[in-house]
Amino acid sequence: MSYPKLSALTAGMMLAFTAQAAEVEVLHWWTSGGEAKAAAELKKTMEGKGHKWKDFAVAGGGGENAMTALKSRVVSGQPPAAAQIKGPAIQEWGEEGVLSSMDSVAKKEGWDKLLPPVVSNVMKYKGQYVAAPVNVHRVNWLWVNPELLKKANAKVPATIDELFVTMEALKKAGIQPLAYGGQPWQDSTVFESIALGVGGADFYQKAFVKLDAAAIKSPTMIKALDTYKKLKPYTDKNAPGREWNLATAMVINGKAAMQFMGDWAKGEFLAAGKVPGKDFLCVAAPGTEKAFTFNIDSFVFFKVPSKDAEKGQQDLASALMSPAFQQTFNLNKGSIPARTGLDMAKFDDCGKKSSTDFSASAKGNTLVPSWAHGMAMRSATQGAMYDVISQYWNDDKMTAQQAADKLAAAAKVM
Ligand code: BGC
Repeated sequence: MSYPKLSALTAGMMLAFTAQAAEVEVLHWWTSGGEAKAAAELKKTMEGKGHKWKDFAVAGGGGENAMTALKSRVVSGQPPAAAQIKGPAIQEWGEEGVLSSMDSVAKKEGWDKLLPPVVSNVMKYKGQYVAAPVNVHRVNWLWVNPELLKKANAKVPATIDELFVTMEALKKAGIQPLAYGGQPWQDSTVFESIALGVGGADFYQKAFVKLDAAAIKSPTMIKALDTYKKLKPYTDKNAPGREWNLATAMVINGKAAMQFMGDWAKGEFLAAGKVPGKDFLCVAAPGTEKAFTFNIDSFVFFKVPSKDAEKGQQDLASALMSPAFQQTFNLNKGSIPARTGLDMAKFDDCGKKSSTDFSASAKGNTLVPSWAHGMAMRSATQGAMYDVISQYWNDDKMTAQQAADKLAAAAKVM
């Protein structure tokens, strides 16, 4: 083979192997202050790899609006390259036959070794990776404004009984005890933490993961529902419909003392320049110190029409799992990396606590999936449960027994 021929061949191969920069469209619902900062890191990472980022952001905490938008795009045959989808919903999309496998990237990078099984299992459909995880959020947190508690001479509640003592003291001191956002996903987020505090991890597993009818109708569930409803007098009249980040802003600005919310709330405190341990406290939701409700954000990949687009997806998958991205993204997002073994030195005390508690709860069998955040049940079941909890919260005449019966019926919706 003569020299000129060889160089022509090499050039040809180069052309074949160097994919063009792709436009990568990514659906997500990260639009609040802290969330947007984290999403910007993702965009920066992809642009750094020479791809064009096409933002498909659909506002609305918890992602219900985003999922509606996604369905109509997939039905019309124009799915985005990737979408923020989590938990059992990944399987549901897999069943539709519209997902693209990222197994080649996952195998090359050894994802099976980098992820705890509780995470990697969720990312696979029929044994192949179709999603990449970016974080682990903890849902069972209480966010506290320590200055307001001090004013009321109240202590940070560790148990459910203490919670009511603290809320009463705050109320007497003329301070709004709870920052509450009355939207279905938020109602269930708060109820989930209360149920865990009242019943513990075993009860939670039986009722919300196994969907065991006896547990759903048990006296423990009745107690959990009663306790949840007792929070209502400690919320304000503008709670209905309030977005979660506006509720967090009430704690940030000293308008309310505490909020039950996952650690995406920390992203809001940080974006407002607040310092954990000083301006705000993160403590386990009362009665749940030993347990951990996990919520893993992940991106699912859809079948795309061209090789360039596929290359863009593979680069995205690889970027999402890279140590640098998992660190920077999670420092902004309030969560911890999904990858194990990353250095937590740059994380604040809330992040460090989350990481330690994640491992400890996995060992102690008290690590449970957040059902309110789509990690425990099929989406239709979850939607039916949401409806019951919100109806119960809003209807003062509905009893805990009636709500428990309705939950048992909702658990059968598939
Ligand atoms: C997601 C978080 C998000 C939160 C509020 C949760 O379901 O996992 O990433 O910040 O909803 O929108």
